[in-house]
Amino acid sequence: MFSKRYTPPLGCKKGQIDTPALLIDLDAMEFNLRAMAEFFEESTARLRPHFKTHKTPVIAHQQLEAGAIGITCAKLSEAEVLVASGVKDILIANQIVGSIKISRLADLAHHTRLIVAVDQEDNIRQLSASMQEAGSAIRVLVEVDVGLGRCGVHTNEEALHLAGIVSTSPGLEFSGLLGYEGQAVFIVDRAERVEAVEKAMGKLVEAANWIRKADLPCEIVSAGGTGTYDITGRFPGVTEVEAGSYVLMDTRYRQLDLPFRCALTLLATVISVPMPGRAVIDAGKKALSVEHGLPEVVGFEGIRLVNLHEEHGLIEVEPQRTELVPGQKIELLPSHVCTTVNLHDQFYALREGRLEAMWPIEGRGKLQ
Ligand SMILES: Cc1ncc(COP(=O)(O)O)c(C=O)c1O
Repeated sequence: MFSKRYTPPLGCKKGQIDTPALLIDLDAMEFNLRAMAEFFEESTARLRPHFKTHKTPVIAHQQLEAGAIGITCAKLSEAEVLVASGVKDILIANQIVGSIKISRLADLAHHTRLIVAVDQEDNIRQLSASMQEAGSAIRVLVEVDVGLGRCGVHTNEEALHLAGIVSTSPGLEFSGLLGYEGQAVFIVDRAERVEAVEKAMGKLVEAANWIRKADLPCEIVSAGGTGTYDITGRFPGVTEVEAGSYVLMDTRYRQLDLPFRCALTLLATVISVPMPGRAVIDAGKKALSVEHGLPEVVGFEGIRLVNLHEEHGLIEVEPQRTELVPGQKIELLPSHVCTTVNLHDQFYALREGRLEAMWPIEGRGKLQ
């Protein structure tokens, strides 16, 4: 009944891809994979990159090939996608709450090595009961709030208390602590960022030592984002870093002194030039997220995105500098990679401007 969906041929030029389309510059992404891998070759901590950024098993497997010890994700349904793709060691850096999810978790634990976070007693007991019923087992990290004000316990005593309950609960193996210093990851000034990370990681490592003093093993101390990977990754006592955005980057993280390249752009088409100084593209808030500011037009002098509607992007064109015409394609750098990627079905992976691969974003929309 409908015309067939257009699939651009591999090897075609960027301009032959229909829009809006998320493009990955493979040279830039591979540079980021190498840069991060090189840092962790020299570090005592290991990288367990966050899936939430790209939500794409192909990229997760490239991260593992580059030396990552496993993958972090936020949602059980993301973990299911990872397991289906063959990932063998997964941290769900989140609480899994409620009988429906816990029984899915117990089933999934038959297929892979899973780690989850906890911060309350009832949840620990429900996890243990469900693992026993399913005959499976999971590893558990107690989450500590290291200043973000999100999930997690606040004191060493509470952390030890929960660690003790986990370690005596059948089906659960107490494996350490999780503490995400999200309050520090975007601090642009390096000295201030270092100070914020040291305060947060000091609290996390102190809690780990407190637990060890009570003769409980605390093998994993997991933390870290893209803005803090090198500070957290060098902090004595931290064993794993969960950075995600580094692999594709965005304009928010570009403001920091990070060694990573922006590898992700959105290709859009000018659909109207309704008056001098104005152009409209076919990408709005359903193609680009805006909570970290408006995306940035690349490669043109004198044009900028000034507003996004649902399906339209409004471009201001400085007179005499550039002219845009309907049908023309332009690229934009997202301001927040993770929430932009979640809006799309697939990536178009390019090398030197030619299409090399198309990768389904299989974790897209996996919220449950
Ligand atoms: C638990 C957790 N770990 C790590 C990260 C780091 O991600 P990014 O590399 O995008 O800063 C996040 C970001 O939201 C997170 O929630």
